[in-house]
This record gives sequence, structure tokens and C-alpha cells, in this order.
Amino acid sequence: MGKALAKVPADKNFWEEKDMKKILALVLALVMVSCLFVTAHADELLKIGYVQVGHESDWRMANTQNYYDVFTKEAGFELELIDCDNDHARQLQEVRNFITKDFDYIVIDPIQEAGWDDVLKEIQDAGIPCIIADRAVAASSDLYTTAVGTNMTAEGETAGLWLEEYLAGKAAKILVIEGSTGSSAAIGRAEGFNKVAANHPEWEILASQDGDFTQNGGQAVMEDFIKRFPEFDVVVCHNDNEAYGAMDAMDAAGIKYGVDGKIIISFDATNEGLTRTLAGKILCNVECNPIQAVIVMNVIKALQAGETVEKFTLVPDEGFCAPGIESAIVTTMTDEVLAARKY
Ligand code: AHR
Repeated sequence: MGKALAKVPADKNFWEEKDMKKILALVLALVMVSCLFVTAHADELLKIGYVQVGHESDWRMANTQNYYDVFTKEAGFELELIDCDNDHARQLQEVRNFITKDFDYIVIDPIQEAGWDDVLKEIQDAGIPCIIADRAVAASSDLYTTAVGTNMTAEGETAGLWLEEYLAGKAAKILVIEGSTGSSAAIGRAEGFNKVAANHPEWEILASQDGDFTQNGGQAVMEDFIKRFPEFDVVVCHNDNEAYGAMDAMDAAGIKYGVDGKIIISFDATNEGLTRTLAGKILCNVECNPIQAVIVMNVIKALQAGETVEKFTLVPDEGFCAPGIESAIVTTMTDEVLAARKY
């Protein structure tokens, strides 16, 4: 049998009053020290303001999530990410709010390529380093600290070169569903594709229309195209979501696409986009990598360390085509490629 515990006499407090006071003082001191520690730690966090384009596509959602995953408190950052809902005026205003709130770094993913000079000067005058991410601005690079992004013109050119290889001299009637008008992503992809198309008098671009990088936009433009152009061979969609919308419109109209139908070319190469490429529905899908936050973070760390950084850091990307197509331009899709695609 265990030993019985000694009882505390009922008339005696277990803790003497003076002991209690000491303990309370100690607890209070500990609370104050931990408060001081938290405040000091919060002060050390770098305040990053990111004006995000919006939430128009799967690519965009993956990019937003990537920023939240990378710019954590544990990594030393306090991130404020604003979804500007594809509204250029709002994006300018949100940048001005960041300036007023004296953020340590401002990261801009520009909805529009043009119209940035004034606000970039304001950031510079406030002495805040500014990073242009993903898309580009049509402004002097003296007005911002550095830029990180993919080469959208090269993406368009890859799509054009793949089509050149695939058609091998055959004539083609082409429809283009563009990304948001005025965005460097749409401008660059059109420029790159048109550069190759200019070498092909046998290619006819029937129409090129804004689908706003959304599935609904892609569907609406394709429905319109189907009414206006009974004959076409190729649909170039400036992102995966537009391609899904175009497919919905073609499905509804009973139009076949894929290896034995109309040729669909897309951009982004998200997991869903590559699933449809592996299934032979999208014949060529040119990647645009949304996983850019760690590169932006490394640039910030280098700047914090007083190092000089390059004016532009390229986010590399590659193209993919459907199984059964051999290509010297892009990689033929496999299950392994798809399994590795996390976004
Ligand atoms: O700026 C990147 C582009 O914008 C992506 O292609 C598209 O999906 C996004 O909305």
C-alpha cells in the first residue's frame, strides 16, 4: 500500500501570504519580459507590401499562396498582400497606401504595363525599395530597385515555334484569345507569337480578342468566334483558364479539339493545364512559373545585406506538348512531369 499524503492543517494556508506576493511578482515580471520580447521581435519583422493583380486564374491563386507560404513571420516578414481585382487605379492607390504606412519593401505585380512613372517616383522619393514581380512595367528601370519575372515574349515565341514545327508548312487559320489588354503578359505573348507568325504567309490570324485571363472570358470569346468563323484550325489561349473556357464553348458547339481536332495552344502549364495536355486536349502548353516568392525573398535578403542585385532576375520556364508529338522545342508530356507539377 502507498504512503498516505500528510494533510495540511485546515487553519493554515498552504502558501504563506508573503510567498504568494513573491510568486505574483515573478509571474508579472515574466509576462512583461515576454511582452517586450514579442514587441522587439515584431519590430524586427520586415514589412512587405504586395499589390497582387487579382484572383483571375489558377496561376494567380498559386502565386498568391506561394507568397503566403514564403513570407511568413517565422522567416522574418510581415506580409500585407492586397488583391487589386484587376483594377489598375485601385492598384496605384494601394501602392500609395503602402508608402503612407512606411513599408520596408513594396512589391508590385502590375495589372497594366503602362502608367507607372508617377507612383514609382513617389516610392523612390519615400526611400522604399521597390520590386516589380511577375509582369513588367513600361517605365525606366531607374525608377525601381529590381524586377523578377518570366520572359513573356519568349513564351509567345516558344508557342509560335512549336506551331511552326507541328504544322511543318501546312496552312492554318488561327484564332487568339488574349490575356487582359495592356498587361505585359498579353503584350509579350502576342509579340513573341506574332514574330514567328510573320515568317508564315500560310498562317492567317483571323481574330484576336481579350478574354481577360479568365475561364468565363475565354468561353465568351470562343462562343463569339464560333459564330463568326465557321472555319478555323488553331486556338491560341493566353492562359490555361481561357483554354478551359474555349473548350467548354467548343464542347457545347460539338467541335472536336486535341490530337484529332482543332489545335489548342495554352500558357501557364498549371497542374490542370498539364493534365489536359497529357490527355491530348491541349496540344502545346507553355509554362509561366508562379512560384516566384522565394526569388523575391532572396532579392530582399541580398538588399538587406547591402549587396547589389541584378536589375532583372529571370524565372525560367519551359514548354510541353501532348503525348505522341515529338518536338525539339518543348518537352513531350509524361505522367512523371504531371506528378511533379504541384500548382
Ligand atoms: O502574369 C501572369 C499571367 O497572369 C498568367 O499567365 C495568368 O494566368 C495570370 O492571370
